[in-house]
Amino acid sequence: MELICPVCSRGLVADTHRYICPKGHSFDRAKSGYVNLLQRQRHRQRGDDAEMAKARRDFLNAGYYQPLLDALIQQTVTHHASRIADIGCGEGWYSCGVLHQLTEQGIAAELTGIDISPEILRFAAARAAKELASSKTDWAVASVSRIPLADNSCDCILNLFAPCEPAEFGRILKKGCLLLRAIPLERHLWELKQMIYDVPYENRPVCSAPEGFCLEQIQNITYKITVPQSHLHALFAMTPYAHKTSPSDAAKLLHADQLETTVSFGLLCCIKR
Ligand SMILES: C[S@@+](CC[C@H](N)C(=O)[O-])C[C@H]1O[C@@H](n2cnc3c(N)ncnc32)[C@H](O)[C@@H]1O
Ligand SMILES: [Zn+2]
Repeated sequence: MELICPVCSRGLVADTHRYICPKGHSFDRAKSGYVNLLQRQRHRQRGDDAEMAKARRDFLNAGYYQPLLDALIQQTVTHHASRIADIGCGEGWYSCGVLHQLTEQGIAAELTGIDISPEILRFAAARAAKELASSKTDWAVASVSRIPLADNSCDCILNLFAPCEPAEFGRILKKGCLLLRAIPLERHLWELKQMIYDVPYENRPVCSAPEGFCLEQIQNITYKITVPQSHLHALFAMTPYAHKTSPSDAAKLLHADQLETTVSFGLLCCIKR
């Protein structure tokens, strides 16, 4: 699975310092290992910042969401996936976890992580260097609406809590192969919301397959976690509500020693038609 040039769509070849295409378009590799392939955007989309990346890394490293990772591993093994693209990959906890497990099982898998945020890819590339030193991984800054991978080049897409672009997913994924979409269900983090808001609202998940895909299965992954004060801020900072909550509401979290809250994910297993 090679990255393609965002200018001419030919394959990119990597060396230690850069990625270069046969026409000579060249893109520097950052010190941490990712490459920026984002062309100038008409409307700049920012993605997550370094603070959100750190919060997510610390919280995920503690294993609260392990049941979702286990479900992803089981699905990729069942579908014999080995060329995996993680679109909106964040700091890579899920996809590195999947790849690590496939490698442990003797499956030669490779991974490309795409995210629009350079800050967050720094964390992903650093994680891969530490945890997946012997696997082929590439990390590229790019938009979900223009993924720098060739047509029919991968056999599994992970799209976890990140924007979905069905036409692009259909283009890069082989026919009959797997798209795994994770979304928050109605009562995800309900008790956290109850603590912060006077009137909490349930999420409104869309549980259908994107256009061009059929829904093979929806897994409901629901359980409770107990989060100590030291991780509450990290949990809150990685939610979409963090930016929309007043400082006085957010401060309510500081008064809790710990919080037991519901985790509720939908894992949509979709097959490309
Ligand atoms: C809620 S985070 C989820 C990250 C990761 N999948 C996880 O579950 O830990 C959403 C991610 O999507 C990225 N993102 C947002 N808009 C994007 C876009 N248009 N193209 C690519 N990535 C995008 C953000 O930078 C962020 O890392
Ligand atoms: Zn080129």
